[in-house]
Amino acid sequence: MKTSLITIAYIAASALFILSLGGLSKQETARRGNWYGIGGMLIALAATVAAMEPSGYITLAAVLIPGALIGAAVASRVQMTSMPQLVAILHSFVGLAAVLVGFGTYEAAFAGPPPTEGVGILLVEIFIGVCIGAVTFTGSVIAFAKLQGSISGRPLLLPGRHLINMAMLAATIVLGVLFVMSPGNSGHPYLLAATIVTFILGAHFVMAIGGADMPVVVSMLNSYSGWAAAAAGFMLSNDLLIITGALVGSSGAILSYIMCRGMNRSFVSVMLGGFGTEGGTVASADGLPAGEVSSIDAESTALLLQQAKRIVIVPGYGLAVAQAQHSLAEVVKILKDGGTEVKFAIHPVAGRLPGHMNVLLAEANIPYDIVFEMEEVNDDFTGTDVSWVIGANDIVNPSALDDPASPIAGMPVLHVWEARDTIVMKRSMASGYAGVDNPLFYKENTQMLFGDAKKVVDEILTAMRS
Ligand code: TAP
Repeated sequence: MKTSLITIAYIAASALFILSLGGLSKQETARRGNWYGIGGMLIALAATVAAMEPSGYITLAAVLIPGALIGAAVASRVQMTSMPQLVAILHSFVGLAAVLVGFGTYEAAFAGPPPTEGVGILLVEIFIGVCIGAVTFTGSVIAFAKLQGSISGRPLLLPGRHLINMAMLAATIVLGVLFVMSPGNSGHPYLLAATIVTFILGAHFVMAIGGADMPVVVSMLNSYSGWAAAAAGFMLSNDLLIITGALVGSSGAILSYIMCRGMNRSFVSVMLGGFGTEGGTVASADGLPAGEVSSIDAESTALLLQQAKRIVIVPGYGLAVAQAQHSLAEVVKILKDGGTEVKFAIHPVAGRLPGHMNVLLAEANIPYDIVFEMEEVNDDFTGTDVSWVIGANDIVNPSALDDPASPIAGMPVLHVWEARDTIVMKRSMASGYAGVDNPLFYKENTQMLFGDAKKVVDEILTAMRS
């Protein structure tokens, strides 16, 4: 009876996780998707507790309660702009958990009388789970450090790095064969050696990727963490963990593919690393302009916007830093009430995490029907009076199209310069995430509006109201 109830609970939780993913795919249903996910997780937790022997409750409480408290405290304090780092470090926990579960399962399997059946399969599961977990762990820690700025975001390219990776991969396979063939639990040294090799492999892999390709790394590690969880599910014979891990693994893989398409990169070229290392005009370190720029003030911008018939707004990372979305929503309302056509153009890698801009705009209740994906709106700039770039840089950099040597060459960008006038709002001439100069700032029809996005949007709002 108890087993059947637990199975039913696992099926219900799996269904809720699938509904959650479906809900999260659209802004209109994202909130509902979150609730499905929370419901699924509560059922999963309750079923797991019910399935346990009561003797394990104290251990469970000792890890669950502090873990939940720390998680709640960190999540409630994290800034939206630091979310990618938090996601990366959470992925590292999943990786480390898979490694520990692997070692624990190996110990437990041979603690009593040696198992007679399915030993080979169990050893393969343990080995694969530990290796995927180890790559996920160190890769995520390096991604965290890069996103946090604790280490340089530029790719580290060791001479012969592909050979080094191939050698580590080959060594892991050989160690895997030796581990599975070891009698009893004598395979410890091979498992330990493979863990160390895959720890290094994960770190080296992510060190070689950088600059504008980091979004793909984050979603790829998301996928790895899912496969690591699924591997842990196999080791623990927990169907729900297998299903959940597979859902995370496959959705992360699909997201990585979408990100690559958005960046016009092949998945393999991103994985091999090395973009963002050479060529291109690197922005001057002192933030001084590399050409003539013309600037505009908030009052003149307000006038220009109010005289325009069609406006396309391009939000970027700076909008999130400044938290200017609410003031912006008020400006948009005034413009729309005055009969101006206003659209938002969202680049797939704008900000620092997938959907970053959509979340910000939804927070400020900007209507979904004026928010467009890049491919839906990129041809509209030609008939636009003003393209208004707020805290964006790399995603509107024309050198991605014009300069084959640029680190962001080939990345599709928003053609803001095709509008009659372009206003670029940022604090200085500093570069964006990819660290390259932006020729958009020196174009004849571009005017720079310098200042913190929140402060300047508030000034524009005041000017419009008066
Ligand atoms: P960026 O190219 O990073 O440019 C953002 C600009 O915002 C900066 O140049 C900065 O210039 C300005 N800014 C910062 N704080 C501001 C403030 N308070 N007020 C006004 N402006 C401010 O951002 P983007 O155009 O959104 O492009 C995203 C980049 O991040 C891409 O290279 C992408 O590959 C990378 N990335 C994306 C993700 C995902 S998943 N979306 C993840 C990791 C990396 P000032 O300092 O002069 O103000």
